[in-house]
Amino acid sequence: MQDLDANDITDAVIEQMAQTPDARLREIMEAAVRHLHAFAREVKLTPEEWLKGIATMTAVGQACTPYRQEFILLSDVLGLSRLVNAMHDATGREEVGTETSLLGPFFRESAPKVALGGTIAHIKTGPEIVLFGQVTDAAGKPVPHAQMDVWQTGADGLYDLQAHDPSVMDMRGQLNCDAEGRYHFRSVKPLGYPIPMDGPVGDLVTRQNRHGFRPAHIHVLISAPGYRELVTALYFADDAHVDSDTVFGVSASLVIQEQLGLPDAPIAGVPSIRYDFTLSLDTGSGGGRVGSDPSRLVPAG
Ligand code: BEZ
Ligand code: FE
Repeated sequence: MQDLDANDITDAVIEQMAQTPDARLREIMEAAVRHLHAFAREVKLTPEEWLKGIATMTAVGQACTPYRQEFILLSDVLGLSRLVNAMHDATGREEVGTETSLLGPFFRESAPKVALGGTIAHIKTGPEIVLFGQVTDAAGKPVPHAQMDVWQTGADGLYDLQAHDPSVMDMRGQLNCDAEGRYHFRSVKPLGYPIPMDGPVGDLVTRQNRHGFRPAHIHVLISAPGYRELVTALYFADDAHVDSDTVFGVSASLVIQEQLGLPDAPIAGVPSIRYDFTLSLDTGSGGGRVGSDPSRLVPAG
């Protein structure tokens, strides 16, 4: 008969889980139990408070739909997505690869194909911009025909997914770089936006007196055989929230600003941004996505 108190409960749980055949699952769950118990002891968690915590997590799960991933949002506002990404980046062999950023909850697979020079803005309108550059490896060698997914809000600060209508696909596209790894496409300048604030994660952020905004940005996901998938985003320097992103996605190397008259700009007369991406070799340590197309996690019923 076990006779457990607040101190030996942790060891008892770990002992009971010790036969877990999957060694990595055993390691993760042991550490999770140790840290969770230490957290409860540190804050002297009361039953009432723990029930509130459970109610919040329940609400987070219930807020998930094929168009919305509230758990990813929770991971993002707690800085956990950034932490996991940063640790994954550190396992890359090259230190010069483009820095990563959050996938976020608005990525969608199977975005419409866009020809080089085409636009991703079909419905939304706003001030036009052009993004162009080249995808290379760490030695500067072009990565031919890299596949690039881009997605962003429009000038209204909203993603197409926020229309909750799967037939609406706008401000996103899939491009194939040319044989020299070069790309260019037209878009409209995105607007910064608050993370979805009408759910349990927004409630938490509000109670913490945080502004809830992300600076204006363009998401980019690049893949090519033999290279680690790059999940990143480019952030506009002129956004008021570029130094206080609610989900900690900004790095200095990812900050951009559109400019007229850039040398090599492929389309004259339109404010342009040149950004060259550097891919790291695939080391077999898995992908860098904390996130997913929401419809893959909660299929439409
Ligand atoms: C986004 O950039 O799409 C995003 C990332 C994290 C939370 C909310 C939105
Ligand atoms: Fe975003």
